[in-house]
Amino acid sequence: MEARTRLSGVTDSLTVRDNRTGSEYDVPITDGTIKAADLGKIRTDEESPGLAVYDPGFVNTASCRSAVTYIDGDKGILEYRGYPIEQLAEGSSFLEVAYLLVHGALPTKAEYDAWVHEITYHTFVHENVKEFMQGFRYDAHPMGMLMASVGALSTFYPEAGKISDADNRHMQIVRMIAKMPTLGAWSFRNAQGKPFVYPDNDLGYTANFLSMLFKMSEQKYEADERLVKALDVLFILHADHEQNCSTNAVRSVGSSQVDPYSAVAAGVGALYGPLHGGANEAVLKSLKKIGSKENIPDFIKGVKDGNERLMGFGHRVYKNYDPRARIIKKAAEDVFEVTGTNPLLEIALELEKIALEDEYFIKRKLYPNVDFYSGLIYEAFQFPPEMFTVLFAIGRTPGWLSQWLELVQDKEQKIARPKQIYTGDRELTFVPASERWA
Ligand code: CMC
Repeated sequence: MEARTRLSGVTDSLTVRDNRTGSEYDVPITDGTIKAADLGKIRTDEESPGLAVYDPGFVNTASCRSAVTYIDGDKGILEYRGYPIEQLAEGSSFLEVAYLLVHGALPTKAEYDAWVHEITYHTFVHENVKEFMQGFRYDAHPMGMLMASVGALSTFYPEAGKISDADNRHMQIVRMIAKMPTLGAWSFRNAQGKPFVYPDNDLGYTANFLSMLFKMSEQKYEADERLVKALDVLFILHADHEQNCSTNAVRSVGSSQVDPYSAVAAGVGALYGPLHGGANEAVLKSLKKIGSKENIPDFIKGVKDGNERLMGFGHRVYKNYDPRARIIKKAAEDVFEVTGTNPLLEIALELEKIALEDEYFIKRKLYPNVDFYSGLIYEAFQFPPEMFTVLFAIGRTPGWLSQWLELVQDKEQKIARPKQIYTGDRELTFVPASERWA
């Protein structure tokens, strides 16, 4: 464990003195990290276990090298493959961003056309998928349905397990990005008791999704272009966010070398939770519970007393305004121009203002995150709150798949298997039930 020369020619190391033994160790520092395995070489004697790192929630542990997404949480910067999120939201489309994330570079015209063509012609799912989705109860949460149906796709494409075959990987990535809106829309229609609408491949990705959600007896469903654009921007904003809870789930499950449908189903499960993608649904519930601006101070007091959290605020990485929240606030204005203002917006704006001036939130660097305003837009689209996280999942799918692709090609990766600190009993003597209960 001697100090090592970095590729850049700079030598960095950490000197550790183990006060249990008096021994000193030089631990190499690479890219601002030390290897946990190097710490494992620090022992009191040959027999003792090596020193380990205790880090619930991976608060300060890098699990991989990644070239997909860069975040500077203090400065509020988010970049996909080096491109600032503001520029992508302004000038790109969701499918172009998906291409960028998956392939690592922006497409040429020919590459883009081929990509859009591939995605468009894989939007249909096997009829049996439709049948089993219709078997869910009328009140099934759409995220539960999405998680189950994404996982089930692995049974329709058993070749997806050949993860070392690049062409095969590409095929599954195309299928998943293409089919996610179909599965998401059908999980919504199920709750509405409405017939499932097949994809319309004359429409673009996001317009087709809206058609599968809302089409009734009309020949063709044509959504307002401004709504299509706003939803496309929302998908872009959600497309990746480096090693968040659901991406970590995808990588962790993917590290067993299972097929990508099973890995992404795990990601959908992680996203479902209220501390992650479920937060936008929780924000809407909170705003409705607050009911009017006069009740905000009482609500804030409850948060500060620890009775509940201000959902849509705070982030593990951002200790500044989440750049996505800024773009969403602007997208909300565009949507409300079409749909009329959501009356909850006033409460949200006032809540944000009061929270940002409050010592509790200032001290903890709690700012609005992506989920604070997205629910208000989704509600303007007339999505029920249960659908909000499904929209997040559709947007996040290219990110999960890009991270999965990186994982399976990364020679340094191993099956994810954290250590534990065992706190239970040891070496008890088992007495059979017949004797214990006698
Ligand atoms: N409301 C009130 N207090 C909060 C909040 C909040 N939303 N978030 C954090 N805190 C407090 C927390 O109680 C703690 O205070 P103290 O130091 O006195 O114990 C301090 O701030 C640090 O919080 P933490 O829970 O240690 O921070 P974390 O990095 O583990 O959690 C978080 C990050 C996003 C889970 C958390 O901020 C939270 O629960 N926020 C609300 C849920 C939410 O909006 N989630 C969406 C995140 S963005 C989209 C996504 O990635 O899915």
